[in-house]
Amino acid sequence: MIRIGNIELKGNVILGPMAGITTLAYREFMKPFGVALSYSEMISDCGISYGNAKTMDYAKTSEIDHPVGLQLFGSDIKNTANAIEILQKSAKYDVLDINLGCPVNKVVKAGSGSAWLKDVGALKAYMAAVCQVSEKPVTAKIRLGWDDQSINVFEVSKALEEAGVKMISVHCRTRQQEYSGHANYGAIKGLKESLGIPLIVSGDIFTIQDAIKSVNKTNADGVMVARGGVGNPQLVRQIDQYFKTGEILPDATPKDQLAYARNYASMLIRTEGEERAIKELKGILPKFFFGFPGHKKIRLAITTNMSSALDLEKIFHGVEESF
Ligand SMILES: Cc1cc2nc3c(=O)[nH]c(=O)nc-3n(C[C@H](O)[C@H](O)[C@H](O)COP(=O)(O)O)c2cc1C
Repeated sequence: MIRIGNIELKGNVILGPMAGITTLAYREFMKPFGVALSYSEMISDCGISYGNAKTMDYAKTSEIDHPVGLQLFGSDIKNTANAIEILQKSAKYDVLDINLGCPVNKVVKAGSGSAWLKDVGALKAYMAAVCQVSEKPVTAKIRLGWDDQSINVFEVSKALEEAGVKMISVHCRTRQQEYSGHANYGAIKGLKESLGIPLIVSGDIFTIQDAIKSVNKTNADGVMVARGGVGNPQLVRQIDQYFKTGEILPDATPKDQLAYARNYASMLIRTEGEERAIKELKGILPKFFFGFPGHKKIRLAITTNMSSALDLEKIFHGVEESF
């Protein structure tokens, strides 16, 4: 069982943070498939400090969302500490995560995200201060290192544990790789054994076989599902069930997929309103129909002909008729 400070998780599947995707509606939708812990998308510490309304929205959680972690990114402990204090007064969450892996130029140039991996001493001091301020257990999300020449995941993880971090998730790529190439699970072989806190493996978990391989190679305590779960929530159920019983559940049927898509769309419309939800669905919804006969036509209808909930229902109806 995974224990993060005083929190015990009921499973081993963690929903990875994804900017623009892991909204409250997405997390609520994914939870019943067997998500043991969800994370919000990355939230700017400065945005919280300035009371930016959109930023504060990212910190919204709900009853069924727990246990949930809010993920902050920042570069200066004064701003991060201030944001943590604001969140502690205004948000309901269970875990605080710090983003130490984001590869995006704008974020890195500001000294946040994976920029931290370049200076382990400064990182340790920053994270020790974060752990001091936070009333909630602190977790961290890292990458293997900055580039192939500076892989320092063992050193960084040790420093994070010594700073007081209670769980580490590793995206098994370097910053330089961004999302290219393959996740290198072999690079964290032995890391679990060198730590006294849980280790979560992330990167290229698209199938149940990927999840099994990642754990076999790393001995990690849990698996982080990110892109692979978008449009395929059954993946979470398969991994959860496998870890609990050894059974491999079948993939979802097209009928299941349609039902999941309908459910997710209505949850998103309910929480975000029709206009915003329809925009967001254009990116995510086609993934539910991947591999269906006529997938390209469905995708085209979603991306070009859908501007209201009524249009959406027509598309769903068309898919249903095609079974
Ligand atoms: C669109 C997108 C947004 C992401 N946003 C975040 C984020 O806000 N914070 C974070 O720590 N990781 C973020 N990630 C990284 C994922 O959590 C995950 O570690 C990465 O995608 C590797 O896993 P995968 O190959 O199974 O998707 C993001 C990834 C994607 C594709």
